Amino acid sequence: MKIGIFDSGIGGITVLHQALKLLPNEDYIYYADTMNVPYGEKSKEAVKQYIFEAVDFIARQGVKAVVIACNTATSVAVEDLRAKYSFPVLGIEPAVKPAVQISEALGKRVLVLATSLTLKEKKFHDLVDRIDSHAIVDKLPLPNLVQFAERFQFNEDAVIGYLEDQLSPFDLKQYGTVVLGCTHFPFFKGSLRKLFADDVLLMDGSVGTVKNLKRVLEASNRTNEGTGQVTFYTSGVKVEDEGALSKYHRLLEML
Ligand code: DGL
Repeated sequence: MKIGIFDSGIGGITVLHQALKLLPNEDYIYYADTMNVPYGEKSKEAVKQYIFEAVDFIARQGVKAVVIACNTATSVAVEDLRAKYSFPVLGIEPAVKPAVQISEALGKRVLVLATSLTLKEKKFHDLVDRIDSHAIVDKLPLPNLVQFAERFQFNEDAVIGYLEDQLSPFDLKQYGTVVLGCTHFPFFKGSLRKLFADDVLLMDGSVGTVKNLKRVLEASNRTNEGTGQVTFYTSGVKVEDEGALSKYHRLLEML
């Protein structure tokens, strides 16, 4: 049986990339809800509805696990999804814990970049309250990065200009770690590198999520059921157009 990987758009490809590395002998369904992206600036109720429609569709294809490869969707719906489906549902959350540990050891601060909805949600506030005992975590929503990514713009002047503008109120020298708390953001590592010093760690949760997936599959003896094939869907429609498919494969190669 296949593994479902879900995101509002292309962001989850950063998780798919790790999954193909760590679990190459599996087949995958990658579902991008391109009709409703971006989630991060919409209401929690609207986003929850989109997520359930998407995961219902994925479930109908027959899957042994679903990865919610979207921090925003995880923060608004992962518990409800787990209550509804009988297969394991894995989520992704901003890598605040390792970032705080590293930055504390360096005597530096942590900057969390994510969508507005992720940063507003209780799940994020609970996470920070649990971990940030020395109040070193700052946060910044960067919604336009999601839009840039969906247009396949990653290194353009407009991206750098946007980042410079959004980051201008922050003293970037005080950060030891930057958390990429949206799965679309690892595509901008090159652009972010132009603004942060070389020793600043850019951290995301994709490896941790895929390790969890591996553990869950191993625990139920359900590994090695495929050959690394990926079937792509956009909002319930199978992607068959060669041009579109090659764009997705190019993204996988970019990482
Ligand atoms: N990729 C998603 C995340 O990790 C959200 C992007 C969006 O706003 O749709 O949060």
